[in-house]
Amino acid sequence: MAQEVRGVIAPGKDEPVRVETIVVPDPGPGEAVVRVQACGVCHTDLHYKQGGITDEFPFLLGHEAAGIVESVGEGVTDVEPGDFVILNWRAVCGQCRACLRGRPWYCFNTHNAKQKMTLLDGTELSPALGIGAFAEKTLVHSGQCTKVDPAASPAVAGLLGCGVMAGIGAAINTGNVGRGDSVAVIGCGGVGDAAIAGSNLAGAAKIIAIDIDDRKLQTARKMGATHTINSKETDPVEAVRELTGGFGADVVIDAVGRPETYKQAFYARDLAGTVVLVGVPTPEMKLELPLLDVFGRGGSLKSSWYGDCLPSRDFPMLIDLHLQGRLDLAAFVTETIQLDEVEKAFERMHQGDVLRSVVVL
Ligand SMILES: NC(=O)c1ccc[n+]([C@@H]2O[C@H](COP(=O)([O-])OP(=O)(O)OC[C@H]3O[C@@H](n4cnc5c(N)ncnc54)[C@H](O)[C@@H]3O)[C@@H](O)[C@H]2O)c1
Ligand SMILES: [Zn+2]
Ligand SMILES: [Zn+2]
Repeated sequence: MAQEVRGVIAPGKDEPVRVETIVVPDPGPGEAVVRVQACGVCHTDLHYKQGGITDEFPFLLGHEAAGIVESVGEGVTDVEPGDFVILNWRAVCGQCRACLRGRPWYCFNTHNAKQKMTLLDGTELSPALGIGAFAEKTLVHSGQCTKVDPAASPAVAGLLGCGVMAGIGAAINTGNVGRGDSVAVIGCGGVGDAAIAGSNLAGAAKIIAIDIDDRKLQTARKMGATHTINSKETDPVEAVRELTGGFGADVVIDAVGRPETYKQAFYARDLAGTVVLVGVPTPEMKLELPLLDVFGRGGSLKSSWYGDCLPSRDFPMLIDLHLQGRLDLAAFVTETIQLDEVEKAFERMHQGDVLRSVVVL
């Protein structure tokens, strides 16, 4: 029997989000229904609402979630009702060309639920990143459920489902940050701070946090930044060079995703260094760089989708580090809120007041 639950939808471009009754079908073959316990508010949800990702409105927002598997469909063997899971948007298919080449963290063909969740009048919803977890329950593919130690609190665990994993992975998987490296991170929201925490875990010697908001720089220090730069007041490229003996950082991570921050990242890195773009640009943005500089500065320019993570490998490991007290995931949760407060949380995110607002159900 399909169930009716409450969920947060974005009805149209730039319209305020609202709580509606949504219909969640019973899980079909390969699918699972998850009782959502917590779901963080990520900047990507705001991009969806603004029409910056696709125009397939209405969206069921929310994609940074943890919860309990309630029921599973035919043929599901990897999870069972009662399991505590983090939802992921990379349910590795095992068959696409990336998977077949042994690089499943690039999987191009992630599994999503085949059935659609709908509004009461039958309007089909597009779940954000194939998840849609600002809802009491959601329907996903069973491969989107990654079991982790239930000792972790849902509000904290859910963050690994997107932004925090994207940031940690941008540093340790994509950027290959290692012991002794110098790292600069532009944009210290949830994703940038996670890149700082990841660099710290990996043993970076110098971690330079860059933001236009002093409050964000203060939190970045708590996450492991050794130096901070307010790029509204100081030229960040010059400042990073000064802090690195005139050279630039080994790895620069752009967690904002704008042409100007990308250029800063490009020039703040040492010769043969690495730039990692993890912030998501919007379709109208264009980048202009002298091609000779691209050649002459060498190194690599990489983009990081979801921190090049493998949920089955990375989620349980990071939850274990958290439970051992070696990765302070709780520090990312600024506030816990209710389903009907998501619109307010977007405003607070926009004003830079929060690292993460987490809806707790
Ligand atoms: N690649 C991925 O897989 C992935 C996953 C999740 C989120 N994201 C993206 O990462 C980005 C950051 O997400 P978030 O949730 O941390 O957002 P956020 O809004 O919490 O943080 C953004 C931070 O950037 C700072 N900032 C804004 N403009 C700046 C500038 N010009 N220079 C320096 N700092 C600036 C803000 O002050 C803020 O601290 C978003 O674009 C989001 O869509 C990417
Ligand atoms: Zn694949
Ligand atoms: Zn996200």
